[in-house]
Amino acid sequence: MKNRITPTQTERVMRENDFIVSKTDPTGRITYGNRIFIEFSGYTEEELLGTQHNIIRHPDMPRAVFKLLWDTLKQEQEICAYVKNMARDGSYYWVFANVTPSYDTQGNVIGYYSVRRKPREEALKVVDGLYRQMRELELNNDPNTGLERSTRLLTDLLTQHKTTYEQFILSL
Ligand SMILES: Cc1cc2nc3c(=O)[nH]c(=O)nc-3n(C[C@H](O)[C@H](O)[C@H](O)COP(=O)(O)O)c2cc1C
Repeated sequence: MKNRITPTQTERVMRENDFIVSKTDPTGRITYGNRIFIEFSGYTEEELLGTQHNIIRHPDMPRAVFKLLWDTLKQEQEICAYVKNMARDGSYYWVFANVTPSYDTQGNVIGYYSVRRKPREEALKVVDGLYRQMRELELNNDPNTGLERSTRLLTDLLTQHKTTYEQFILSL
């Protein structure tokens, strides 16, 4: 279904008090979405549950960001990220997301949990510019080289500013 959607230039903007919440199983399949998640995605709850979370992936998003997300989650750490999502009608909406592992009482990872809020305008200017450069490297190279170069662009930026990914994201 997601492959047939053409992205449009229409933006949906989160409201100040909105929280978009979703949960997935360990493989990234959606197991829960709150009312606002369903509203922004444009899908019905029925369509979302059991579906891979990439159903709302926007083609402008760098693969390197999702690699970092999954690498971090696999190390059982939380991650914050700016994400451009695509709704069912092709419109887009930016979120500031926090994603964490969920555990059972034995301490096993049973899935992941994400809460998103409205990103700051000033932060989006920086992130949009960075993501565009990263995505260009990914699209203009073979998949492996593209991912490597896109990741390197991000890590070089962090080195230049003598900062970590987490500090950088939270400083925006
Ligand atoms: C809890 C959780 C929330 C996620 N939220 C989003 C999201 O809002 N948008 C998105 O594009 N990917 C999200 N992802 C990542 C997707 O699972 C997926 O990796 C990404 O869309 C890239 O698609 P691909 O892995 O098929 O390339 C989330 C993953 C998890 C575990």
